[in-house]
Amino acid sequence: MNEKVETLKKELTERLEEVSSFIDLGTVKTEFLGKKGKITELSLMIKTLSPEEKKDFGRLLNEIKTFAEEALQEKQDSIETLIMNEKLKSERIDVTLPGTNIKNGSPNMLEGMIEDLEELFLNMGYDVVEGPEVEKDLYNFELLNLPKGHPARDAQDTFYLKDDELLLRSQTSPVQIRTMLANAEKGPVRIICPGKTYRRDDDDATHSHQFTQMEGLLVDVGISLADLKGTFDVIAKHLFGENVETRFRSSFYPFTEPSVELDVSCFNCGGKGCPICKQTGWITVGGAGMVHPKVLSNCGYDPEKMSGFAFGFGIERLAMLKYGVTDVRSFYMNDLRNNSDRKDV
Ligand code: DAH
Repeated sequence: MNEKVETLKKELTERLEEVSSFIDLGTVKTEFLGKKGKITELSLMIKTLSPEEKKDFGRLLNEIKTFAEEALQEKQDSIETLIMNEKLKSERIDVTLPGTNIKNGSPNMLEGMIEDLEELFLNMGYDVVEGPEVEKDLYNFELLNLPKGHPARDAQDTFYLKDDELLLRSQTSPVQIRTMLANAEKGPVRIICPGKTYRRDDDDATHSHQFTQMEGLLVDVGISLADLKGTFDVIAKHLFGENVETRFRSSFYPFTEPSVELDVSCFNCGGKGCPICKQTGWITVGGAGMVHPKVLSNCGYDPEKMSGFAFGFGIERLAMLKYGVTDVRSFYMNDLRNNSDRKDV
């Protein structure tokens, strides 16, 4: 009997050595411990034995059963460990590998510029006002003292939509008109109006058929050119640093009288002359002037009692100067490969 048990143990051990999957393990288990398994069959022999023999046989039977259960369990554990190790190997993540470089977005330069200027003006008590991009000829030109056929319209040729009366606004100045017309008491006005504008320009490094302007308008009692100068000074220093100086250069706009060009001393060379200021020491950043009496009266204001100044900046131009962007088209291109102006990494 002893021998039989020993052979079974040996047989089981050998069978288990070949096992490498749960399926094989199941087969071996049935083979030995199943209803018709070798150990089960062995236990049936108990009936044929005498009481004395039964005692020994029972002990041997328990021993082989325990042995088989333990051996099967051991094998099951080792298969589980094997599978787990393989899984760990195949799903291994090397945390020391550098990750895929995800390009972070950054705030749009033009939006950033507008928000920065808005904050500056809000702190000075101005309101931010917006107007429609599809505008009436009346507001974009006529009430701004640019009647039909006026030669100054040529510089602001734009896209017309209907009967020459509706157009894509060529400047943000019509927002001045809208605001003054809407002000029923004809009291003071203090606004800036940022927004998109359009012109029939051929696109190149410095021209775009669509661009962004920011207009400013201040109307009150006793406003003079000195107020404009002081305001421009604040803007210039805010944008280009405390050391820049400002100057007016006489100019012409139909909606202002007198009209001026707004120049800042070159923030790059300090006024000595360099490629950015084209060796002049000065950079023109916008246009401005005292609101023309005709424009005031067109909007119901009495030019004898009230006066005001207005100014206009091209936001792209300011951003190009401030951030060293060399092609205005870079603001609108979304193919980063061709975007040589982008300095982000
Ligand atoms: N609208 C002018 C332009 O687009 C810029 C400008 C000049 C606006 C003088 C003004 C101003 O309000 O007073 O060229």
